[in-house]
Amino acid sequence: MTNKEFESFVDTNDDWIKTRTGIHTRHICDPKKGENTLSMAHAAAKKALDMAGVDPKDIDLILVGTITPNTVMPCTANQLQALLGCPNAFGFDLQAACSGWVFGISVAEQYMNGGKVKTALVIGVETLSMLVDWHDRSTCVLFGDGAGATVLKRVDADAGGGIVGINLGTDGTAQDLLCIPHGYCKVPPYSAEYQVNQHKIKMQGSEVFKLATRTMVKSATELLAEHKVDIESVNFFFFHQANIRIVDHCARALGVAREKMWINVDRYGNTSAATLPVSLDEAWRSGAVKPGDLMLFATFGGGLTWGSALIRL
Ligand code: UT7
Repeated sequence: MTNKEFESFVDTNDDWIKTRTGIHTRHICDPKKGENTLSMAHAAAKKALDMAGVDPKDIDLILVGTITPNTVMPCTANQLQALLGCPNAFGFDLQAACSGWVFGISVAEQYMNGGKVKTALVIGVETLSMLVDWHDRSTCVLFGDGAGATVLKRVDADAGGGIVGINLGTDGTAQDLLCIPHGYCKVPPYSAEYQVNQHKIKMQGSEVFKLATRTMVKSATELLAEHKVDIESVNFFFFHQANIRIVDHCARALGVAREKMWINVDRYGNTSAATLPVSLDEAWRSGAVKPGDLMLFATFGGGLTWGSALIRL
């Protein structure tokens, strides 16, 4: 969907959207064609398993970072377990908004360290088009639908590569800055108080902008310090793709050059939990990252949630 397409139903224009966000296009699911959270997660998972050369039967754990599951019961992980044919896997969905994939990687790491899991499928998927208020110009132009999937395998500590460290955070005291007030158990769709427009994404954009920038930089800086890694030693950076100006602010604050970052917000908008795994997939396929590279991921999302991860390929 192009920026131009918004001009017929909200007071906006291509120039404002490009200048203030860096977004040119985003992809929107068409439910009539059977496109939804599960179908995107399934497609991404199959590609990831193929790329990793992993048999679905060898997956022990399926984690899906999403706030837009097709249904809450069964969750997306359960539906995928059946669709992919992973009889030996257990799984669940994880709600951390845009930070869903980084939180998922962290949970998978814990199960691996505990010895319970050898191979995990960690997915970030979102159909935010279902939760966007298409009459609110301050939010509807920002989001898009997408899915990215990663396969993690436990390796010996001396094998090289793997998760170096992860830094996570949440701040429920600021939840109102980016939230979906109605539609769940507190104000369910059948209650008298329910209002459809409250079952949509509400965001105080400029406040979230400032917090997202500050918090991602702080999280990444703390993580680098904790693991005694110089910023110069990091080969490639993946910042949450919400707005090109947020990415640029983070890069400037950390002293990172554009050539060392993956950027796709121009093509997909903000796909929430999917932005980082989609970016990693594109960077890998294009050759921008290669085995042995040290990568830094940083994310920030609704609720509020954030995190960063240092991973060596
Ligand atoms: O995934 C993590 C969460 N998401 C984010 O991190 C997003 C964070 N926020 C942002 O990216 C930016 O704050 C926005 C893109 C949402 C807004 O950009 P901004 O530069 O912070 O604009 P603003 O909210 O300060 O609004 C400036 C003006 C306002 O008009 P007035 O009051 O100055 O007359 C808005 O009504 O821009 C107006 N505006 C628009 N104009 C045209 C807001 N949205 C639009 C629009 N088209 N789509």
